[in-house]
Amino acid sequence: MRRLRGRLIQPYVKEHHLRKTDLVMPLFIDEVADHPTPIPTMPGQFRYPLTRIGPAVRKLQEIGIGAVLLFGIPVHKDPEASEAYNPDGVIQQAIKRIKSEAPGVLVITDVCACEYTDHGHCGIIGEGPCGMDLQNDPSLELVAKIAVSHAQAGADLVAPSCMLDGMVGAIRTALDVEGFQETGIISYSTKFASALYGPFREAADSGYSFGDRSTYQIHPANAREALRESEDDALEGADILMVKPGGFYLDIVAAVRELGFPVAVFQVSGEYAMIRAAAMNGWINEKAVVMESLICLKRAGADLIITYYAADAAGWLDEEQ
Ligand code: PBG
Ligand code: ZN
Repeated sequence: MRRLRGRLIQPYVKEHHLRKTDLVMPLFIDEVADHPTPIPTMPGQFRYPLTRIGPAVRKLQEIGIGAVLLFGIPVHKDPEASEAYNPDGVIQQAIKRIKSEAPGVLVITDVCACEYTDHGHCGIIGEGPCGMDLQNDPSLELVAKIAVSHAQAGADLVAPSCMLDGMVGAIRTALDVEGFQETGIISYSTKFASALYGPFREAADSGYSFGDRSTYQIHPANAREALRESEDDALEGADILMVKPGGFYLDIVAAVRELGFPVAVFQVSGEYAMIRAAAMNGWINEKAVVMESLICLKRAGADLIITYYAADAAGWLDEEQ
């Protein structure tokens, strides 16, 4: 085997490659911030004010990162998440600014209610058989309305992350009825109830006031159910499927790959925080660990990789050239 590992031959037999067009950068837009605010649980990441989001995306574009996933943090929260579909809401304004100040960037928006509800759950809540819980069907209309408002503002793709049954079908129908046949759906189709979202909930102020998300997200033990979730979303009209989190779930990435759709993988906040914290302590080589984590996602079957390391990885890819 060592003949194939010689320094000269090795690059020619490499099976997988990471490109800048694989990478999507998640960004937080804060309606109240007046300067980029560091996120304590995710050192190196910021909440951007609306006035700074255009320039921030321009800078990404200049280093070759041409796709972003947007999360909004509104001033006002209520039980119905009404700010989430406000045509002048934080995310709708951010989309317009990016489209005018950084044209040519692919804009993907997270479609969920949890950053906009005062209770912090991903839709409408109500009394269920085991107490207060997320109500599936009453929430579908809400997420469809949110998706349409993002499309109206100019989003290229909407990314529903609420794990409601029927969310992709409801959104596809609403988009088509409103004339947005061109707007794509990248569904968070297989999303686990993971403790790795902890740092994000601080970042996006989307923690819940009671219960947890285990009645709508998948238990980490369940692989067959995980595949059915992506199959359902594929049948409902998703254009791109997603597995989230990334690194602990590579078997699931490989299985979803077989469905024949483009696959996105989200390397989530907790994965970022773990690597970053170890690197800040000098315990690991950050560049080497990050590049290993990303190529392993590719090897497992990822097409797109959503990662808070997108900008750093772009720089590291340049160094390798
Ligand atoms: C909103 C949403 C979450 C993430 C993406 N969209 C949090 C959650 O489901 O609790 C997690 C992203 C990350 O941890 O980086 N539903
Ligand atoms: Zn949510």
